[in-house]
Amino acid sequence: MIRVIVDPAHPDAAAIAAAADVIRRGGLVAFPTETVYGLGADALNETAVRRIFAAKGRPAFNPLIAHVASVEQARALVTRWPAAAHRLTTQFWPGPLTLVLPKAWSVPLSLTAGREQVAVRMPSHPVALALIKAADRAIAAPSANRFTEISPTTADHVARGLGDRVEVILDGGATTVGIESTVIDLSGERPVLLRPGTLSRDTIEQTIREQLADPEPIIDAQAARPSPGMIERHYAPKARVLLVDTSSVRQVLAREQLSAHVGAIVMSAHISDAVIVQQLPADPLGYAQALYASLHTLDEANCSVIVVERPPQTGEWAGVNDRLRRASHPKSDSADETDAV
Ligand code: TXA
Ligand code: MG
Repeated sequence: MIRVIVDPAHPDAAAIAAAADVIRRGGLVAFPTETVYGLGADALNETAVRRIFAAKGRPAFNPLIAHVASVEQARALVTRWPAAAHRLTTQFWPGPLTLVLPKAWSVPLSLTAGREQVAVRMPSHPVALALIKAADRAIAAPSANRFTEISPTTADHVARGLGDRVEVILDGGATTVGIESTVIDLSGERPVLLRPGTLSRDTIEQTIREQLADPEPIIDAQAARPSPGMIERHYAPKARVLLVDTSSVRQVLAREQLSAHVGAIVMSAHISDAVIVQQLPADPLGYAQALYASLHTLDEANCSVIVVERPPQTGEWAGVNDRLRRASHPKSDSADETDAV
């Protein structure tokens, strides 16, 4: 694995060209987007796409997002571009928004996990955009972590998680959004919010002048999933995560400390210095930006329990609350444990 440091705002053209060559040859390149680091490969090359699944240890039922550098490039991958897609991309692209639409014939089923829909996103990170343009093709990229582990927001996280499973890591520093893109399915009759992110539901609904539906709950764990983002235990650290109200943080910490190496992620709660504390900003965007790095840090400190002060349950916190809920999902309850590595 080669790690190349690039200026996140003005990446060196030679470094980008070399990484783009790896993509064109069917290899894997990890690169920063504004949300999290992606593990990229040529989206229309079946062999390259299969390498992504192998490197992540990801089950084949999880489709990948095709990253593009323009609306035109996205439109070439789909058969319909409804008014909602036009409105959303005009407003939020490039940015942390992924749209699911009926796929064009040229899009391989290995990318879409056998579905007739494909997910497309135009990221805003200059390194991501430069790489897609230099490769001159759409780049398939899931988050650059092993399946069910915490998504990477730095090149260090990628290197520790994937090591030599990736050929090149473009190191553009820490990502700014910090949690994965909002995913909206526009392929059916009603738009469905498959994965909440940092764009609020209200803003999206105002933009498309329509209400978002919620995904169908998964009843049969073996059945095809509307979205792999719905796998319950996802984004999870090695430690057990306890999500607790502000008023009980101190009490839970005191109890857990008797038998565990405890870490804490708090905003307002004032706690003793006997535990490893990650103090996060009390605003949803600042919190999202720092959340995964905090989980990585507490994992590296070998915490066996992480106590998290529950953020407010309001719409602007939906993306953060979704990730915290999944991170705190008990391991034994997961129907997907057998799928995990
Ligand atoms: O912010 C992000 O979206 C990051 C960066 C790298 O762009 N990527 C990312 O990819 O989070 P991944 O593979 O970890 O998550 C992909 C999500 C899935 O959870 C699923 O909800 C949705 O995209 N998805 C992809 N293809 C789909 C499809 N054909 N139908 C439904 N959902 C799909
Ligand atoms: Mg992921």
